[in-house]
Amino acid sequence: VPAPLIAPSLLAADFARLGEEAAAVARAGADWLHLDIMDGHFVPNISFGPVVVKALRRHAAIPFDVHLMIAPADPYLAAFADAGADIISLHPEAGPHLHRSLQTIRALGKKSGVVLNPATPVESVAHVLDITDLILVMSVNPGFGGQSFLQSQLAKIAMLRRMIDASGRDIRLQVDGGVTAQTAPDCIAAGADVLVAGTAVFGQPDYAAAIAGLRSPRRA
Ligand code: DX5
Ligand code: ZN
Repeated sequence: VPAPLIAPSLLAADFARLGEEAAAVARAGADWLHLDIMDGHFVPNISFGPVVVKALRRHAAIPFDVHLMIAPADPYLAAFADAGADIISLHPEAGPHLHRSLQTIRALGKKSGVVLNPATPVESVAHVLDITDLILVMSVNPGFGGQSFLQSQLAKIAMLRRMIDASGRDIRLQVDGGVTAQTAPDCIAAGADVLVAGTAVFGQPDYAAAIAGLRSPRRA
C-alpha cells in the first residue's frame, strides 16, 4: 500500500498567524493544505472565506484542498477558484444539483470533491464518479476540530474503495475528522489515500514529526 497523502487542516492552527502556520506545515512535509470553510448555517461554526484563502496562497506552494461546509455552495465556487483553490469539495446536502456543482468546479479548471457526512450513504456519489476527482468521508460530524473518530465510517471507506477500484477511475479517497497516529492505520487499511488531520498536526510541537507519524503510522 503506498503511503497516504497528508493534508493538515488549518482549522487547528493559530488563527492570528495563519500565513506562518500554512508555511510551517508545507515546510514540514504536508502534501496538501486542507482549508475548512464554514458558514454558521450548514454547520454550527464559522471559519473563514475566500479572502483568507487568497491571502494564504503566497505563503504555501502546496495544493489548496478547500472543504466547503456552506449552503448554498454554487454562488461561491468561482470565488474559491479565483482565490487559489486547487481542489474544491462540497456536500451533496448543500444543494439540489450535486452533478451541476461538480460540473461547475471542473469548468473552473479545478478538481472536484464530494463530501459524505457520517449518515450520508455511499450511493450519493455512485452516479457522479465520472466528474469526481475526490471523495471525502467525514469521520466526525462537520463543524469542529478535535472530535473523536467515528469507527462506523471505516466500513464506508472500504465500500468506497471497492466502488472506486471497480470504476477504474483516478479518484482520491480522503478521510477527515479525528485522524490521529492511532486511527490512521485503520483508515489506510480500509483504503483511504489522503488523510486530513487538524489537531494531530497543529496540536503537536513538531509538525514534521506529526506528519511523518501519520504517513507511516506504527500500531501501538
Ligand atoms: C471538521 C473539519 C475537519 C477538522 C478536523 O468539520 O472538516 O477538517 O479540521 O479536525 P481534527 O483533525 O482535529 O478532527
Ligand atoms: Zn475538513
